[in-house]
Amino acid sequence: MGTEKDTRTNYFNIFNDKKPIVVRRCSLEDLEGVIEVNEKELPEDYPYFFYKSILDNYPESFQVACNNNGKIIGYIMWRVERAPSINSLKLMNKGHLVSIAVLTSYRRSGIAATLLSNSMKKLKKYKIDKFVLEVRVSNYVAINLYKKFNFIAHNIKEKYYRDGENAYYMTLKA
Ligand code: ACO
Ligand code: ZN
Repeated sequence: MGTEKDTRTNYFNIFNDKKPIVVRRCSLEDLEGVIEVNEKELPEDYPYFFYKSILDNYPESFQVACNNNGKIIGYIMWRVERAPSINSLKLMNKGHLVSIAVLTSYRRSGIAATLLSNSMKKLKKYKIDKFVLEVRVSNYVAINLYKKFNFIAHNIKEKYYRDGENAYYMTLKA
């Protein structure tokens, strides 16, 4: 399978100007840039090997957004979990959203929505039954984004984050 088909250039309205942003699969060379975005935009930091193992195991759905200088300005990564469903012993595959972030100056242009929709299509290759994620109950912006994709808040996970904040566990049938 060619990689060209996986790379698409979208034009997003940034600083009131149409700027080409490339959304494509993450490569090993991109990890440094991904980590930079994560450390700037989210309090949950992960060690390098964590990103590397997600890239090794679930490369299809690990996507990055780059500006016209090739700088990483956003990313999304998922893992796949095989677990029994709540109401039967049948095993199901869950696509678990590990992390998504877009640099502040590139926000509100549809980049996260593009990362989400592209990666969710790619995840189907892993025979996903449903998509799941946790999000801080105070993260109104991200909750809005997930609702736009028809995710539903399934339940609350108490004190899910290290600082004691609760998470919504949101799910969507694939
Ligand atoms: N206020 C309200 N809703 C918003 C806002 C906002 N400021 N920004 C985005 N949204 C919602 C809207 O529903 C929007 O759709 P609309 O434009 O049609 O109204 C939808 O999200 C898509 O917006 P995008 O422009 O695609 O989102 P953006 O590229 O700005 O990125 C993101 C959204 C990733 C949440 C960004 O704000 C960010 O990086 N935040 C910090 C990191 C973070 O919180 N990540 C999620 C943590 S949870 C997890 O990773 C599982
Ligand atoms: Zn999670």
